[in-house]
Amino acid sequence: MLSSRRILLIIGGGIAAYKSLDLIRRLRERGASVRVVMTAAAQHFVTPLAAGSIAGERVYTDLFSQADEFDIGHIRLARDCDLVVVAPATADLMAKVAQGLANDLASTVLLATDRPVLMAPAMNPRMWAHPATRRNVAALERDGVAWVGPNEGEMAESGERGVGRMAEPLEIVAAIERRLAVGGDKPLRGRRVLVTSGPTHEPIDPVRYVANRSSGKQGHAIAAAAAAAGAEVVLVSGPVALPDPPGVATVRVETAREMLAAVEKALPVDAAVFAAAVADWRVDNAGQQKLKKGANGPPVLTLVENPDILATIAHRKSNRPTLVVGFAAETERVLEHAKEKLARKGCDWIVANDVSIESGVMGGDRNTVHLVTRDGVESWPTQSKEDVARGLVARIAAALEGKR
Ligand code: CTP
Repeated sequence: MLSSRRILLIIGGGIAAYKSLDLIRRLRERGASVRVVMTAAAQHFVTPLAAGSIAGERVYTDLFSQADEFDIGHIRLARDCDLVVVAPATADLMAKVAQGLANDLASTVLLATDRPVLMAPAMNPRMWAHPATRRNVAALERDGVAWVGPNEGEMAESGERGVGRMAEPLEIVAAIERRLAVGGDKPLRGRRVLVTSGPTHEPIDPVRYVANRSSGKQGHAIAAAAAAAGAEVVLVSGPVALPDPPGVATVRVETAREMLAAVEKALPVDAAVFAAAVADWRVDNAGQQKLKKGANGPPVLTLVENPDILATIAHRKSNRPTLVVGFAAETERVLEHAKEKLARKGCDWIVANDVSIESGVMGGDRNTVHLVTRDGVESWPTQSKEDVARGLVARIAAALEGKR
């Protein structure tokens, strides 16, 4: 059910606009209120009168309408809702939003909104596959836009087959429900969370690498728990033997430098948890070809320091996550080192764990952690890595509460 949820539906100009009328009906049946904005092109396919009659309120079409500006104003239009849905999202409208253009009511609302945005693209398969659209999709994704569809099928106008059909109204309703995390306890609903996990592999030559014993279990469990709590999660993972957690956008990387690039690409986020065991060093003189045994004896490997991903993100001036959580893998004097790391790396919390061989943490299923914040230390009981993840996610949700 979507009772008392407010949806702002932006209808773009495509033949699929007729399906948006059904979408309005389905949303209203579930108790949502639907306010509609139509582009000029959309009005070639459906009329504001038709959309307005189904929505039960007038439709907004004009950025420069004096009456509309007095009535509600485009800024309020952009913000008085729980979710902005663009259906159909045409190639043109997506390009405008990706560029930040604001030359009509729909694009202005999309630039002015601080609400989550869900787009249901609809276009010819060649337009969807075009590099320009690919770039725009990637840019919009970075800006936090979520998608439903497009589906594969026959195009209404040309009979061509391919990916480009707008998702069906009920699929869009399901995506809206997911996005609004309707039903159940979803304390991270509407939040974006980034998690790093696993080891990194630093090449010695094309076939050999330096690595560590991290399994990625703790980081993956945190990503899964954040997704279960309703967050939109990006998991940047080094090489692990684990499946990608469901409902999580997983980016696989090998080296520390690749991990940093993927992390920066995932910003902005509300919270970032750095659970990866990043290699501190990489081989400076890594061979381009496989190193061979020879008369000169074993090769001498020169190590250089890798970027510190956690410290880099925690010290960012712009787009710093609201909450930055690091891990401290220690084999001795756990709390002392963790407190020192909190200060040095500039993060908000450190989850400290003992990874000495006796502790069995590395690669094991259980973990004993201490949550170190500026206010003090909490020592949690030994528990499964999933329970540690759920506990941490609950704490993150509480810390973000009220911060937008
Ligand atoms: N970390 C990181 N980038 C690195 C090294 C570490 O993002 N190049 C992060 C880890 O993901 C973790 C935290 O920093 O959240 C601490 O990692 P840890 O290995 O315990 O600390 P180091 O900085 O490597 O310090 P040391 O090895 O000296 O204990």
